[in-house]
Amino acid sequence: MIKDQIVPAGEVDPAHFDRGIFFGDGVYEVMRSYSGKLFALEEHLQRFGNSLSAVEITGIEMEEVRARILRAFDAAGIANAKIYFHVTRGSAPRDRAWDDSLEPNFFLNVSEVSDNTAERTNGIAASTHPDWRWKRCDIKSLNLLANVLAVADARGKGCAEAILVDEAGLITEGAGSAFFAIRGQTLQTAPLTANILPSITREFTLKAGRNIGLEIVEESLTVQQAAGADELVIASTTQDIVPVVRFEDRPVANGTPGKYAELLNREFRSFTR
Ligand code: PDD
Repeated sequence: MIKDQIVPAGEVDPAHFDRGIFFGDGVYEVMRSYSGKLFALEEHLQRFGNSLSAVEITGIEMEEVRARILRAFDAAGIANAKIYFHVTRGSAPRDRAWDDSLEPNFFLNVSEVSDNTAERTNGIAASTHPDWRWKRCDIKSLNLLANVLAVADARGKGCAEAILVDEAGLITEGAGSAFFAIRGQTLQTAPLTANILPSITREFTLKAGRNIGLEIVEESLTVQQAAGADELVIASTTQDIVPVVRFEDRPVANGTPGKYAELLNREFRSFTR
C-alpha cells in the first residue's frame, strides 16, 4: 500500500524499496559554486569516496560522479548553486543484510543557494542540544534524524542552529555546521575524530584563521567556555562563516558580530574566487 492505494508488489516503484529510506543506508555530499565556479570539488569527491568505502558501498566510480556533477551543474545554469547528491546501497525488499549484487541508487539535485547575507551580517542565535548521533559522524551518512530533532528543538527556541554537546559536556559541532570559538588570539574548534564530520568549510576556516594571524587550537570546548568566548561562529558549505551572537539565550560578548567573524569571512571569500 502506498498512501491509501493498494499496489500489486510487482508494480511498486523500486524507489519505495530504497535502502536509504528503510535504513538511511547511504551517504551524501553537499557542495556549491560561487559565481559560476565550483568550489572544492576535489575535497568533496575525496570525502564522498571515504564515506562510500566506510559503509562498504561499491560499484560507484568517482570519475562518473565527477562527470555527473559537471553535467548537472552545467545544465542547471545556476551561478550560486547548491549541489546535493547521494548514493544509497540500492533497492531491495527490507532486510538488514544486503546482497553484493545490489546496484547503488544515485540522486543529485542542483538548486540556488539560499542567500544568507542577513545572517552573515547580523549573526544568529544558537542553542545547545545533546548529541544523540551515532559514533561514526565522520561518515556523511543519510542518517540525520538526531540532527533533524536537534534543529527542531533549536527552532522552537527561536534559534537558527543547534550546537551538539556530548555526554562529557563537550561541544562536538553544529547540527549542520562546524563550530568555532575565538578566545583572545585563538581560533578553537573540536579536533577531527570520529564524532564530527571532517567539514570542508572547517578546513578553509582554519586556513583563513591562520592567514589573519589567529592561533589554531583543535581542542573541544565546554559549553561554559563557548558561552564566555569573545566570538562564536559556525561554518558550512551552504552558509560560509556565520557569527553566533546569542548562545544559550545569552549574548556572546556584547551580542553583535565580532571583528574576527568579518575578517574570517572576507579571507574565506578570497578562496572562492
Ligand atoms: N552539512 N557538520 C555537520 C553535521 C554537517 O551536516 C555539515 C554540513 C557540516 C559542515 O560541513 P561542510 O563544511 O563540509 O559543508 C558540519 C551539509 C551542508 C548539509 O547536510 O546540508
